[in-house]
Amino acid sequence: MLNSAATQRQPWVIGNWKMNGGLSDNETLLSDLLALLESHGGRPIARCAVAVPAPYLFQTMVRLSGHPIGWGAQDVSAEAAGAFTGEVAVSMLQDFEAQFSLVGHSERRSRHGETDALVAAKALALLQQGLTPVVCVGESLQERDQGRALTFVCDQVRQAAQPLHAQGVLADAAFAYEPIWAIGTGRSASPEQAQEVHAAIRRTLAEIDASAAEQIRLLYGGSVKAATAAGLAAQQDVDGALVGGASLNAREFFDIACAMSDC
Ligand code: 13P
Repeated sequence: MLNSAATQRQPWVIGNWKMNGGLSDNETLLSDLLALLESHGGRPIARCAVAVPAPYLFQTMVRLSGHPIGWGAQDVSAEAAGAFTGEVAVSMLQDFEAQFSLVGHSERRSRHGETDALVAAKALALLQQGLTPVVCVGESLQERDQGRALTFVCDQVRQAAQPLHAQGVLADAAFAYEPIWAIGTGRSASPEQAQEVHAAIRRTLAEIDASAAEQIRLLYGGSVKAATAAGLAAQQDVDGALVGGASLNAREFFDIACAMSDC
């Protein structure tokens, strides 16, 4: 059952494939997803999307164009063009009609040394070209055990949101709360834990821009499964899900999207 605030913010369910897939597997996954949607009367359930590895954006665009599933990237450069070996610019995502990109996923923060400032710059580059950044934030188990989860996450949110607000584009961003201890561990945050952090994130955003804070979608990520999705979606400030492992299974991803849409 969706709450009324979430109903105003149409739920958004994004599958983050991470570094998985291949031409043939992607074809099967996307066809299976489209077939499930079709069997559901073709009705868009939640606003559904996949975040695919950059080399597969073309395949995804061709496969999903005209269907009610969106697509985007998992990361992007803050730079427009030039000598940045290995990077992918926002304009390149636009060539493949990507609608969004994740930025600041914890796997990029921890393994690639991405700072709050870089994450904010990437988010701004996307917004300035009309794409939505899904800014990922989340605490480690150590921070949670030390009782610092809310302080840590809200600081990450502030660092990303303030530069976007200064440029007048904050309302068009989205955030994903992904506690690091819940990613790929099978141990999801409880609906109450997720709500506590999401409410704190929305309060932090409201201190910067009250009307933007009401519009901004806050997705939860971390071991989301079909069985746990409805409980999360029922929370006042949970506006969707960022799904890792379970998004590689068409049936499971579809069922999560359904659970998030109350259908
Ligand atoms: P899992 O759903 O596999 O825990 O991954 C969550 C995630 O990192 C999505 O971005």
